[in-house]
Amino acid sequence: MSQKTTSTKQTVTLSDGSGKTIALPVLPGTAGPSVIDIRKLYGESGYFTYDPGFTSTASCESKITYIDGDEGVLLYRGYPIDQLAERSSFLETSYLLLFGQLPSRTQMEEFRESVTRHTMVNEQLNFFYRGFRRDAHPMAILVGVVGAMSAFYHDSTDINDPHQRLVASIRLIAKMPTITAWAYKYSVGQPFMYPRNDLGYCENFLHMMFAVPTEEYRASPVLASALEKIFILHADHEQNASTSTVRVAGSSGANPFACIAAGIACLWGPAHGGANEAVLSMLAEIGSVDRIPEYIKRAKDKSDPFRLMGFGHRVYKNFDPRATVLRATAREVLAELNIKKEPILELAVELEKIALQDDYFVKRKLYPNVDFYSGIILRAMGFPTSMFTVLFALARTVGWIAQWGEMMEDPERKIGRPRQLYTGAAHRDYTPIEKRG
Ligand code: SDX
Repeated sequence: MSQKTTSTKQTVTLSDGSGKTIALPVLPGTAGPSVIDIRKLYGESGYFTYDPGFTSTASCESKITYIDGDEGVLLYRGYPIDQLAERSSFLETSYLLLFGQLPSRTQMEEFRESVTRHTMVNEQLNFFYRGFRRDAHPMAILVGVVGAMSAFYHDSTDINDPHQRLVASIRLIAKMPTITAWAYKYSVGQPFMYPRNDLGYCENFLHMMFAVPTEEYRASPVLASALEKIFILHADHEQNASTSTVRVAGSSGANPFACIAAGIACLWGPAHGGANEAVLSMLAEIGSVDRIPEYIKRAKDKSDPFRLMGFGHRVYKNFDPRATVLRATAREVLAELNIKKEPILELAVELEKIALQDDYFVKRKLYPNVDFYSGIILRAMGFPTSMFTVLFALARTVGWIAQWGEMMEDPERKIGRPRQLYTGAAHRDYTPIEKRG
């Protein structure tokens, strides 16, 4: 393969040795790797590319989130994640992800008001919860109830109407705290708490999660602020598995509620958003610092399916900047809750230290990711482990819907339909059963 840069355009030329060559344009981005545009490759060469897991494949063009995995950089619409986590709010960051710019004061108030006015759900949805066992995993309930929203909000399912796309986006952002809090309430047999218009987004969620009708509840401002940070850090992350799922689902023209339900289902996996829950189970299993070497050994043993949950990342080959913020937030929350000693945090810090000194992890650039510390904070805040991925889904809904909206506005939108390398049986004719061995 050779590269050529003319005055304006760079191309790469492919040759398979048969004398036939094909010149493919190289498209540069604002930052990060340029891409080789292979859209005409199959038509002109008869070859597919092969990239299971899409390790070297850009599936789309996007202006929303940029990650530099080597430098540990994460930008939402150009703004560094640590600045947003420290200085923004989840709703303001949601506005930024959706519309591309930080809002003016008026825009922020209008957006806040619009979200606040959509936090209630159709009362019929309430009955969906009763169809589940009380011990159903809240992610199972979330997939079901969010998918069922398609059956209620028909006035925001026309994907070709920009206004309906906006209404659906606001509805999803606004109703996820209600739907997720009710999944928790259902699991503990407590009455559902309705959203309140006098509370902020995170305060309202904490209220619906932990208030009971029998007494006043005021969320701790420090915990509400910690939740703002956690939601901001989880809001978007370019073309991760669940976002790619939402985009492929949306590429078929499926309605936004169905697409988000598909994203929730994908996020549930322990290799993805389910890792925060898996980290806590792993730390509980390790139990004490003296058992860390045994588990590090297992994580390195290819014959052992055990992996160090909360470690490693497809893109970050340096510290996940979100893990850095969350490690500091963990200490703040524990101090606020007057938890002097949290063995599980000490264990996590020791595990991180030992792993980052081990050549296996260093060589493979396996660092703590966003899921390594988030569960420790959520557990300290009183969330059950089974709700950790649910909170990840709550926060990521704005990223999914922003990416879905970007795709829906793309005039070049096509249905996502990859090809394959077929290595199965060649053509053969049917043999009647009486003639088979
Ligand atoms: C999220 O994509 C995103 O942006 C996701 C996310 C988001 O915000 O949307 O950031 C959220 O999903 C974070 C990741 C949470 N998952 C975990 O913490 C689960 C543990 N991590 C691994 O399963 C793994 O690191 C992945 C899935 C995260 C990444 O897998 P890759 O990129 O496909 O890497 P790989 O499996 O090819 O691993 C490369 C090598 C392998 O060893 P070798 O074959 O080279 O000898 O590293 C090893 C792996 O065995 N490895 C690990 C490991 N992660 C990778 N070994 C032990 N423990 C681990 N955690």
